[in-house]
Amino acid sequence: VIPSSIDASRAVAAEVAALIRQRQHEKRPVVLGLATGSTPVAFYAELVRLHREEHLSFANVVTFNLDEYYPLPPEHPQSYRRFMQVHLFDHVDISPANIHLPSGTVAAAEIDAHCRAYEEAIRAAGGIDFQILGIGRTGHIGFNEPGSSRRSRTRLVTLDPLTRRDASGDFGDEEHTPRYALSMGVATILEARQVVLMAWGQHKAAVVRAAVEGEMTPQVTASFLQEHDHALFVLDQTAAGQLT
Ligand code: F6R
Repeated sequence: VIPSSIDASRAVAAEVAALIRQRQHEKRPVVLGLATGSTPVAFYAELVRLHREEHLSFANVVTFNLDEYYPLPPEHPQSYRRFMQVHLFDHVDISPANIHLPSGTVAAAEIDAHCRAYEEAIRAAGGIDFQILGIGRTGHIGFNEPGSSRRSRTRLVTLDPLTRRDASGDFGDEEHTPRYALSMGVATILEARQVVLMAWGQHKAAVVRAAVEGEMTPQVTASFLQEHDHALFVLDQTAAGQLT
């Protein structure tokens, strides 16, 4: 628990930067799993600052994002592809070939093959070294909404009504908010060697408590992180406000 979300974001960015530099030194790539949304904005801003001011290179970085709305073209202002370009990729020296997101435009008949290929690409890259997560008010990690199995893999998911309501501000209204997404599964996320979940604000306090102190249940998929050997919740004071 860190009083301010800005300081907390910087601390997480420093840890990721240290991992990137260590792998550079070893002349090995590092595989990052990335999240979008409001939570990691200051984290990405700090990574960009480290690139600009402290020579942090992303030349050896490979990324896999958790999810993308479906259907949604990459150039849509609210697509997660666009979010990543705006907040990170356009400002650092990452190779476009090293960037991976599920596609919001894959044909319906190709979704299963696309999701299998996404899992295969993660495996071929050597697995995810460091996974960044946020948490939704439904308890989701990625878009693994209540009811998602512990064994779930990258697939087409239906967004929970609460998740759509929370996203509706970005899309103008609920009617224009996507109903579906492609998301890594719970099993995909749990295979990452190290996981950091960030949460800020009082509106996350109840679900953070359920994830950390509640029983492990598919109704709160973040609770499955209780089983992970190397998972850390990084919270500001208000998000931690209901922990006992
Ligand atoms: C985003 C993602 C989601 C968000 C979660 C929290 O890639 O997978 O799980 O992390 O919905 O969103 P914010 O940060 O906007 O509160």
